Amino acid sequence: MIKLAPSILSADFGNLAYEIKRVEEAGCDLLHIDVMDGHFVPNITLGPPIVQSLKGRSKMPFDVHLMIEDPDRYIEDFVKAGAAILSVHSEACTHLHRTIQHIKSCGVKAAVALNPATPLSSIEYVLEDLDMVLIMTVNPGFGGQRFIPSMLDKIKQLKSIIDERKLDVDIQVDGGIKPDNVHLVTAAGANVIVAGSAIFNSDSIEATVKEIRKNAG
Ligand code: DX5
Ligand code: ZN
Repeated sequence: MIKLAPSILSADFGNLAYEIKRVEEAGCDLLHIDVMDGHFVPNITLGPPIVQSLKGRSKMPFDVHLMIEDPDRYIEDFVKAGAAILSVHSEACTHLHRTIQHIKSCGVKAAVALNPATPLSSIEYVLEDLDMVLIMTVNPGFGGQRFIPSMLDKIKQLKSIIDERKLDVDIQVDGGIKPDNVHLVTAAGANVIVAGSAIFNSDSIEATVKEIRKNAG
């Protein structure tokens, strides 16, 4: 089952509640919320108060992608604000195993995100503990960037490791996913698709969501 997670990074931040309603009505599964701190990535977005303000306005679980240094400091805050899944970057965690256990102890799903240059070996010893791995298909920081094709091989390799170890771990892809390339990532093994600009900058969110789903296979 393919899950579609629109990224609100490309939504109209002045009308977030309305934007969320639009993607929910179009049949999306998760709401992808990009949190950036201006240190780990060269951009700043939003924090727990905004996530909190969206709580209760949507039935979609909140998939919170933390692009922040030392994310342990904010795990409780984002859980209280309504996160159902928390993704931390392996590059931002000195004690990644501890951070994963911290997230799980708060009763939410734990995911680790990998920048394009980060090898799969960085999660070799924690994969069993994860609910999801986020393969970044652009360098994090901005919406609307181009998909990096060499990430397809990384997705395939991760899928084969997950299958070999008989694990139940989702593979999420994030960055540059459009109706015309989504089939490549799903064929490689991804099952959770993030799309920001492709959805929110389209003329018809409903038509684009349908097209992504159809092409995802
Ligand atoms: C990039 C973010 C993505 C981004 C995706 O740093 O993590 O979630 O919003 O946007 P698109 O789909 O436009 O590449
Ligand atoms: Zn993201």
